[in-house]
Amino acid sequence: MASFTLTDNQSGKSAEFPVLDSVLGSNVIDISKLHKEFGVYTLDNGLSMTGSCESKITYIDGNKGELLYRGYPIEELAEKKNYVEVIHLILTGELPSQEEYTVFERDMRQKRFPHEGIKKIFNAFPDSAHPMAMMSSAVSALSAFHHRHLDVSSDEEYREMSQRVVAKMPTIAAYTFRHSMGYPLIFPDMDRYFSENFLYMLRAFPTGKTEIKDVEIKCMDAIFTLHAEHEQNASTTTVRGVGSTSAHPYAAIVAGINALWGKAHGGANESVISQLEMIGSVENVDKYIAKAKDSNDEFRLMGFGHRVYKNFDPRAKVLKKLRDELRDELGVNSKLIEIANRIEEIALTDEYFVSRNLYPNIDFYSGTIFEALGIKKSMFTPIFVIGRTVGWVAQLIEQRRDPKAKIVRPRQRYIGPGKRHL
Ligand code: ACO
Repeated sequence: MASFTLTDNQSGKSAEFPVLDSVLGSNVIDISKLHKEFGVYTLDNGLSMTGSCESKITYIDGNKGELLYRGYPIEELAEKKNYVEVIHLILTGELPSQEEYTVFERDMRQKRFPHEGIKKIFNAFPDSAHPMAMMSSAVSALSAFHHRHLDVSSDEEYREMSQRVVAKMPTIAAYTFRHSMGYPLIFPDMDRYFSENFLYMLRAFPTGKTEIKDVEIKCMDAIFTLHAEHEQNASTTTVRGVGSTSAHPYAAIVAGINALWGKAHGGANESVISQLEMIGSVENVDKYIAKAKDSNDEFRLMGFGHRVYKNFDPRAKVLKKLRDELRDELGVNSKLIEIANRIEEIALTDEYFVSRNLYPNIDFYSGTIFEALGIKKSMFTPIFVIGRTVGWVAQLIEQRRDPKAKIVRPRQRYIGPGKRHL
């Protein structure tokens, strides 16, 4: 077995640390005996060099711009499989057979309805509440209505727990929108497929026909697939952190929702559109690019850069194609898309962005797709939540069933006052 030898230059002591092979990507050094051998911890701000778990779900190669769910490239899944098939893949490890799909999809439809008590919670929110605030509270309440999902040893109970939360998320997200608009909280439509039902729930009125085009369903479905899983990002790490204490699974999912809200993470898609609106016209792009490059200016180009991808985000490539397909089919004439295209054109050739490997990320394109679908800005991050819930649940289950998993408890470098007395 390969190993790393560390030597303490002061004491001259050396110790070996095993290097564990990964199936794909970088191997890892097992430093669990580091403190015992040397009396030191590692310091790794943002944990960007630290593997916190072993996982079989997702693989990312940030330098190549590659993303695999259970081994399958994201581009193939987005093009050839629907989101419900991807849910099955992420939760169980395999794509469903035709028979499995029929049962799974039917179960998911039946679980869309929330308890009437969940609906009543919305009455307590002001119309002006941000949808993410309402989502967080409503999903938290799910743990009150389904409090028995604690037995991790029961496959049946955990299957039900996973399907329930993934199936209800579009309903809850649609309710946050409908509440903010003063619309009635309608029932999900059992006859419609997952992504079609979500668009229906955003658009439906008690009177009139709700029109949803195939290209809109296709885009919405791909958006969910592209957001479904992304290994140990900030929100997933938060879910695993809460999950490691054996809290209720939905309490862990809510923690993920709250972590996703921030503009450095899932909130970036909303910030991208706000920024494009602020830029206002193609003529102003140069001025804002200059601001983004100025180290004395806090302005950052939203939708650019990624902690892991140092190449084009593979999800962004798929979305760019879909956005253009949607724009052409719906005949959308969007000033924001023109501004976005100009920014992309400059950033992909400008030395500042090129030398720092700052490429457009998924959020750069998703916002303009939502805009073309007529979806309100504050709903962008809730849509990300709908897609990502399956990833959080799969990671949580993996953690709960990992015999090596421990309560998440990192260490620190203490830099406060030395010991003192009153
Ligand atoms: N605009 C301008 N400059 C940037 C940007 C940006 N969007 N992102 C990074 N930089 C610069 C930094 O100023 C820094 O420059 P320096 O080396 O001269 O100091 C360099 O690039 C490296 O930046 P870091 O912050 O160290 O990169 P990190 O990997 O830690 O950050 C992050 C990644 C947070 C995503 C960052 O790129 C960012 O803030 N982007 C905008 C927000 C965004 O789009 N977030 C969505 C992320 S994807 C997701 O959550 C789904």
